[in-house]
Amino acid sequence: MKDLREFHRRDFIKATAGAAVALSPILARIAAAADAGIKIGVIGSGHVGSAIGKVWATAGHPVMFASRNLDHDKQLAAGIGANASAGTPAEAAAFGEVLLLAVPYGALPELGKALAPAIKGKVIIDACNPFPNRDGEIANRARDEGVGKVSSELLPGARIVRAFNAIGAADMGAAHEQPGKVGMPIVGEDKQAIEIASALILEVGYVPVLVGGLDRGRYLMPGTPLSGEHSPEEIRKIVAAL
Ligand SMILES: NC(=O)c1ccc[n+]([C@@H]2O[C@H](COP(=O)([O-])OP(=O)(O)OC[C@H]3O[C@@H](n4cnc5c(N)ncnc54)[C@H](OP(=O)(O)O)[C@@H]3O)[C@@H](O)[C@H]2O)c1
Repeated sequence: MKDLREFHRRDFIKATAGAAVALSPILARIAAAADAGIKIGVIGSGHVGSAIGKVWATAGHPVMFASRNLDHDKQLAAGIGANASAGTPAEAAAFGEVLLLAVPYGALPELGKALAPAIKGKVIIDACNPFPNRDGEIANRARDEGVGKVSSELLPGARIVRAFNAIGAADMGAAHEQPGKVGMPIVGEDKQAIEIASALILEVGYVPVLVGGLDRGRYLMPGTPLSGEHSPEEIRKIVAAL
C-alpha cells in the first residue's frame, strides 16, 4: 500500500494547498499519513462497505465494520487483518472519527435515531441510495424531496458528504490499483468534511470531483448521466451541462 499512500499524500497536499482554512487535527493527520491512521466506522459491511473498508484498513487506517450480523463482521475483519475489527453499529459510530454508511436507504431512519448522539458533528460519507422497491416510502421521499436533504434530516447534526453512490461496488475494491483514472462525483456542504472525505476517496483510488451542495445529490444517483465510471474531466463536463 506504500504507493497508494504516496499517491494519496501527493494529491491530497496538492488538493489542499492554498486552501484558506487551517488544517484541522484530523486533516493534518491524514495529510501526514500519520502512523495511527484515521479511525473509520463502516456501517453496512456488504458489497460497498466491505470493499471500501478493506482498502482503507489495508492502507493503514483502523476500520471497524458493523451491521446487524456481528459474526459476519468478525469474519470479515479477521480476513482483512490487524487494522480491521468488528462491532455493533453503535460501537462503530462511537469508534469512527469518520463514518461510512453503506446500508439500504430504508435502514437510515432507524439507524439515524439509534446513533443520534454518536453521529452529531461527525463526518459521514453517505453511499446509500434510495430504491422504493427495496427501501419503501422513505426512498420515494428521498427521490421526491432530494436525497441529500432527506439524508441530512435522517442523520441530524452529521457533516454529510455523499459519495460512492454512482459507481458499482464491484470496481471499488480495485480502483486503487490504477489510482487517479476514475473520478468520484461528491456533494456536501461542510468544507472540512469534504476535504476529509476527499482524502479518503483518493485512497480508494478515485479522484473526488465536487458537484455541489447536498441539493445536487440527485445527480449522483444510479441511472443519471454521472453514474458509471468517468474520468474527472468527463465528470466536470457533465456537471457543467447539468
Ligand atoms: N452495490 C452497489 O454497486 C452500490 C453502489 C453504490 C451505492 N450503493 C448503495 O450502498 C448501500 C449498500 O449497498 P450494498 O450493495 O453494499 O448492499 P448490501 O451488500 O446488501 O449490504 C448492506 C449492508 O448493510 C447492512 N444492514 C442492513 N440493514 C442494516 C441495519 N438496519 N443496521 C445495520 N446494518 C444494516 C447489511 O447487513 P445485515 O443485513 O446483516 O445487517 C449489509 O452489511 C445501498 O444503499 C446501495 O444502494 C450500492
